[in-house]
Amino acid sequence: MLKSSKDMEIVLSGIRSTGNLHLGNYYGALRNYIKMQDSYNCLFFIADLHSLTTHPHPNDFHSGVKTILAEYLASGLDPEKSAIFIQSDVPEILELYVLLNMISYKGELERTTSFKDKVRKQPDNVNAGLLTYPVLMAADILIHRANLVPVGKDQEQHLEMARVLARRFNSFYNCEIFPEPKAFNFGDDLIKVPGLDGSGKMGKSEGNGIYLSDDEKTITKKVMRAVTDSGPTEPNSPMPESIQNLFTLLKIVSDKTTVDYFYECYNNCSIRYGDLKKQLAQDICKQTLPIKERIDEIYNNDEYLKRVVKRGTDIARESALSTLKEVKSAVGFRSFL
Ligand code: TYM
Repeated sequence: MLKSSKDMEIVLSGIRSTGNLHLGNYYGALRNYIKMQDSYNCLFFIADLHSLTTHPHPNDFHSGVKTILAEYLASGLDPEKSAIFIQSDVPEILELYVLLNMISYKGELERTTSFKDKVRKQPDNVNAGLLTYPVLMAADILIHRANLVPVGKDQEQHLEMARVLARRFNSFYNCEIFPEPKAFNFGDDLIKVPGLDGSGKMGKSEGNGIYLSDDEKTITKKVMRAVTDSGPTEPNSPMPESIQNLFTLLKIVSDKTTVDYFYECYNNCSIRYGDLKKQLAQDICKQTLPIKERIDEIYNNDEYLKRVVKRGTDIARESALSTLKEVKSAVGFRSFL
């Protein structure tokens, strides 16, 4: 059973099992999950089916899932407060995925930015799973009739697609089964954690990640390598993107006094990027090293992981089955059995 209060909104989100979690995953998504656990009905999962779009080797597939699970728990997801499960353990998601595919159109899927990106980045592997990625994601969300979905900015368009499909299904089958899910972030806007290689976002496939599992030396090395320039020569100069990115990260991990201090140094041209980077590395370490310390022990405790997933899967399947029953009835299925 999900938490019993009927008034509590339902929260659902997930992360693909494609390597270790980085600061983008943590600050864009996971930190919100942790904060939401006390006030909402929360379900968090590992999107192992979504990860198949990039063809992981079968030998690495399970350890990839286990890694995210251990990192979820080490970061503070509490299995007593949230249902934690693996996407492929809930087959009802796939039934809904098939049904939603029937009301999703090629044109709208081809226009998705993430699809166009993948076509550019992996032209040799433009599989149908990539095209229907947002439909599977909508199924993940709608199967639990989730109201809020904590995600980073890059997922905004996928959330829009989930809303479109919720509306379309309700109207197509003349029912009111699905609420329209909203993307969520504590604070005003969804966030994009930048990479430190000059432009763009931090990402697994961008190869610019700072990971929750990195040790102090590695983090310091990565931050000290960040792209900068020779510094401003006139007061209050506009910031190039690489410097903006450093400040964006600083705003995420450091306190206001530190951020204000470095802004002031930038604006009066006294900034030393080495000092800024040292401070940034220290503040990242302060946040991530306590998490890192817990990862290995949790990863190696199979008994515990099994208990966590068993409990989460029971909750997720109960919720999914009840939605699917209504969905199938609305579509017109009547069983002979
Ligand atoms: P994935 O694994 O690509 O990303 C997981 C989460 O991390 C966020 N994120 C970022 N946020 C800010 N800055 C960054 N640089 C950054 N990089 C990643 C993503 O926005 C995301 O919230 N498609 C989803 C997985 C998924 C899902 C779902 C999410 C499958 N089904 C249903 C919510 C609901 C994804 O992007 O995974």
